[in-house]
Amino acid sequence: MAGSVKFKRDRKFLKSNWDVLEFDSSDQAKKIPVPPMEKPYTVQNGKVIRLLKPESWRNIGRISLKDAIMKRQSRRKYTNETISFEELSFLLYATQGVKKNSGRHSFRTVPSGGARHPFETYLFVWNVEGIEKGIYRYLPLEHAVCLEKKYVKGMEKELDSATMGQFWNAGFYFIWTAIPYRTEWRYIDASAKLIAIDAGHLCQNLYLACEEIGCGTCGIGSYSQKEADSFLCVDGKDEFCVYMAPVGKV
Ligand SMILES: Cc1cc2nc3c(=O)[nH]c(=O)nc-3n(C[C@H](O)[C@H](O)[C@H](O)COP(=O)(O)O)c2cc1C
Repeated sequence: MAGSVKFKRDRKFLKSNWDVLEFDSSDQAKKIPVPPMEKPYTVQNGKVIRLLKPESWRNIGRISLKDAIMKRQSRRKYTNETISFEELSFLLYATQGVKKNSGRHSFRTVPSGGARHPFETYLFVWNVEGIEKGIYRYLPLEHAVCLEKKYVKGMEKELDSATMGQFWNAGFYFIWTAIPYRTEWRYIDASAKLIAIDAGHLCQNLYLACEEIGCGTCGIGSYSQKEADSFLCVDGKDEFCVYMAPVGKV
């Protein structure tokens, strides 16, 4: 039979397990308040830059969804062209943009099990119009980015090492972390599977949105956990990197 004993154990994670899970034991069932939808930020962290809202986009929507689907591929070679501020605004909205906020849930451009949206989106900005190099974080509720860490010489080398040599002269990198408790609050032991599925949704939207604007991306699953978490200054326990994707002009 294919697969070692260890793989069989890991495969359990991929199954529903819904029939054996004790949802009565969840923090939601215990009436513990719902965790925040967005990691707090303070203006002391640095600048907050408001992004362009969908109604003001001028150069988005030139190709059909059918063409975007047909063209989609992983792209690892980029030109030196700058990513425009409008393109950055579009790509962030396409991956995590909030269309409706009920206060307890947000409904976004991507689906998420139970509308839990367990991710934070960090950006390593390298060549984007109007934004200095450095590490930023998307604030989906405000459709803005906040500065997390100013650029210091050699940051790109740190990212290259964290991605095992996959720093590809992109305009910027998406670096997604998960805050698992947002999902665990409701889905207890089923959460890891749901979070992994959710991550696929946001990156697929990114792939298609990139095709729309003459950019390319590539999902990056091979990275050093320790180095990526340290690059972002996250604790690696309650928040840790789960996926990355560079974006560049092609
Ligand atoms: C979850 C995931 C992780 C991936 N990790 C990497 C990676 O670390 N490096 C890389 O070059 N490509 C990575 N890829 C891209 C795949 O290699 C690519 O999707 C596959 O070769 C098929 O090519 P296509 O996307 O052009 O159809 C990843 C893709 C996915 C979905």
